Amino acid sequence: MEILNYDMVILGSGLAGMRAALEASIVSKDKARIAVISKLHAMRSHSVSAEGGISGVLYEGKNNDSSKLHAYDTVKGSDFLSDQDAVEYLVSHAPDEIRMFDHLGVPWNRNDDRNIQLRAFGGMSVPRTAFAADKTGFFMMSALYDNLLSHKNIDIFHEHVATKLLMDKNKFLGIYTFDLASGDERAFMAPNGIIATGGFARMYKFTTTAYSSTGDGIALAYDAGLPLKNMEFIQFHPTALVPSGILITEAARGEGAYLLNSKGERFMKRYAASKMELAPRDIISRAIMTELEEGRGVKDKRFGKDEFVWLDLRHIGEARIDQNLPMIREIAIKMINVDCVKEPLPIRPASHFTMGGIHTNIRGEVVGRDGKNTEGLWAAGECGCVSVHGANRLGSNSLSQCVIWGGMTGAAAAKRKYTKAGVGQSPAQRKALQDASSELNRIMEAKGSENPYSIREALWQEMNDHVYVYRREKELVEAKKRLMELAKRFKNVSVDDKGKTYNTNLRDVIEIKHMLALAQVVVECALARTETRGAHAMREYPKRDDKHWLKHTIAMNGSKGIQLSYIPVKITRWQPEERKY
Ligand code: FUM
Repeated sequence: MEILNYDMVILGSGLAGMRAALEASIVSKDKARIAVISKLHAMRSHSVSAEGGISGVLYEGKNNDSSKLHAYDTVKGSDFLSDQDAVEYLVSHAPDEIRMFDHLGVPWNRNDDRNIQLRAFGGMSVPRTAFAADKTGFFMMSALYDNLLSHKNIDIFHEHVATKLLMDKNKFLGIYTFDLASGDERAFMAPNGIIATGGFARMYKFTTTAYSSTGDGIALAYDAGLPLKNMEFIQFHPTALVPSGILITEAARGEGAYLLNSKGERFMKRYAASKMELAPRDIISRAIMTELEEGRGVKDKRFGKDEFVWLDLRHIGEARIDQNLPMIREIAIKMINVDCVKEPLPIRPASHFTMGGIHTNIRGEVVGRDGKNTEGLWAAGECGCVSVHGANRLGSNSLSQCVIWGGMTGAAAAKRKYTKAGVGQSPAQRKALQDASSELNRIMEAKGSENPYSIREALWQEMNDHVYVYRREKELVEAKKRLMELAKRFKNVSVDDKGKTYNTNLRDVIEIKHMLALAQVVVECALARTETRGAHAMREYPKRDDKHWLKHTIAMNGSKGIQLSYIPVKITRWQPEERKY
């Protein structure tokens, strides 16, 4: 085992992680020694797949837009479960972040007057989403990565799989990993750690997310005894291409695309008459599922066995599609041989984003088991639940959240007095390292009879079948039972590949372990919340219930299993009201 000492270790190399590294470098004047750890090549982090754009009021007053209106839209979109102080922070810092990325070289689409162009997104009162065609995440990541390479104090460790968060009670010590290329075990010790590993929407079979979106940092935090927040809220993106689940950006509807059922009706008139296709995602996903359940879905064997509805872009025209949505056109041609200039696209809702995550305060500091902050540990981006998105995130608010909380936590970690301890000197450090090493060896040497991939397949299917857009108590109870059975079977898995070089079998087993643990938390939290709020839609409880449920769920790994408690939502200006669009 190799032990490396840093001032700061950042787990995750998407927009939040890399933005944290950049800010920490700026604040420390390149003095802080920073390790960025990624289980992929950093530039393959899932942020590169972000398509539609980043929200922020760049031109206050223009089009009657204001940061206050952005905040209101976000709070209403969240079904009043967001912490409003965090939302106000987001909207006031988003414009500067977009401008900063302009300076880093992101090729934003621009108007004839050279101003950054803004497009419409769901649940937003006016267009306020900046974009670079439909490859916004790719361009933001490229700009950030290029910039980081010029900071000599930052070391990027690609393809290092994290297996343990090293803690001494509430104090962060470091992160234990193995190097996928060599199999070497490597511990990164530091007084400051930032978890930025993204979400866990990959626990579903039909998803827009990468195979890597397995919630590793969240699962490691949970395993270390840290609380998670609002895990029941899973966002389903309404327009995932059938049958693969590849994202067809909401920007398609921002540019004017229609949703049509089998009768050719723009069915959103029944669900959100004023916003139509630009209602928030929870409402549109439910509308699509209702259309399918009521027999107005389309069946076409060319696109697999599942029913779907159409996304029609034809009236937008080829020139505009090629200018603003070139990638989705190319994807649909390559994947299903459909050119959206000439034919509508088959789509249905897929898991896309996870509103819940590691419980943090507004500064991104991870809250410990006792409700007090941990020492030297932050979470940023999708893996951290601040919570700005509440029960339902508005499209394009995630990139703002990633870069704002990435920058904020990077700066905070860099400002902390460094208390770099000697390598493995304290008994707590020695014990943490030993435990992490034996645990990894135990997994590696397991010789059980269960195939991990059949467990993963069963998990994906279970989440899809019983914990989807609409939830029913009976189905959640069933899911809970099946997940417990899978967890039991998982104890008997084996890692068949005993080699050291690129042991993706070992990595997969660790990811499955993470997804299984988090899936059980999702179901437990969902069963408890007997109301419909944002993305958590219960058939038996179709209404929001502010009297009992205007509160965040906290889930902890207790001695008797998953332990739930609740904390209040922070309301600064906007009292809950009926959510109409
Ligand atoms: O549809 C999209 O482009 C997704 C954006 C987002 O999730 O923010």
